[in-house]
Amino acid sequence: MSDFCPIKRFDHLEFYVGNARQAALYYSKCFGFTIAAYRGLETNSRATASYVLEQGEIRFVLSTGLTPDHPISKSVLKHGDGVAIIALEVPDVVRAYQETTKRGAVGAIAPTEARDEYGVLRYSAIHAYGDTLIEFVDRSHYAGVFAPGFEPRNLHTNRKGVGLKTIDHVVANVELGAMDRWARFFAETMGFNLLIHFDDRTISTEYSALMSKVMQDSTGAIKLPINEPALGKRKSQIEEYLEYNSGAGIQHVACTTDDIIETVTQMRAAGVEFLPTPKTYYENLEERVGKIDRSIDKLAELGILVDREENGYLLQIFTQPVQDRPTLFFEVIERQGAQGFGEGNFKALFIAIEREQSLRGNLAIATV
Ligand code: FE2
Repeated sequence: MSDFCPIKRFDHLEFYVGNARQAALYYSKCFGFTIAAYRGLETNSRATASYVLEQGEIRFVLSTGLTPDHPISKSVLKHGDGVAIIALEVPDVVRAYQETTKRGAVGAIAPTEARDEYGVLRYSAIHAYGDTLIEFVDRSHYAGVFAPGFEPRNLHTNRKGVGLKTIDHVVANVELGAMDRWARFFAETMGFNLLIHFDDRTISTEYSALMSKVMQDSTGAIKLPINEPALGKRKSQIEEYLEYNSGAGIQHVACTTDDIIETVTQMRAAGVEFLPTPKTYYENLEERVGKIDRSIDKLAELGILVDREENGYLLQIFTQPVQDRPTLFFEVIERQGAQGFGEGNFKALFIAIEREQSLRGNLAIATV
């Protein structure tokens, strides 16, 4: 059953932003990405400008519309800056499109071939939550820098990066009551399975709660958790997101590192802001999570969270939203055997998020 839509890996995430030139510099200087390719007016792209950023196996594409009526400009007006496309590398984009659409997915881009002197790049796309697209990409017959129309750039390659390696998971927030529908969508149209389900008893604070289902492909390489708000005394962080994003969309992107202390030290020095962790979190930390092969003082200084499971532990930290709207943020995660999502940190994490929400004036008593 699960083989009808085989996926190799995350190919890239495409962000629609208001000013791709400045955003590219932000992700380069603060997150350690290299600007590897560019497409814009100078390369005869009249309607959009795009920058391809690379680090480890991670590829982000930042795109902006050059006219007010371009769909990217309209998306940015509605949602603000954010992830618009989750692109997955597949062996066959025609089959991926046919198998998913015949099972109920709504097609967005019919199978297309783009050619230049470096070969042929094949792609197609379907609609997912909110205005997000899932794109299927086959670059097995393409040897160019990213896609036809792009030129190599290699800007800011003096940096070695900050150690970000792969995309671990990409999380969406959907409307109240829509989580099961989207979990079913991934199961039925793409053959994903449910890895884990967190209910509102697992993820709740005094004020708000959320529920989450983590969907993954047959290999486990693609993990797409889906959150929905649960009723609480106050407006939940998910509702705050849905309000400012004007609907469902990508809440956070988790990137792996082999050395979270080094990665976060560099990102902090470059100006990235992270969610603060209360000092009390580190009192009796080793009694709670067992022996950790790191300096607890260093983890406390940087605000890194720790969670222990049967098979090991993980270290994680979350950035503040990376734009003025309280929508998209990033997670940096180092897995030392643990395969979960930091369940033991949910409470501490959500209390920290609510403190920030309160500073934004968005933790009012819920009206529903
Ligand atoms: Fe996460």
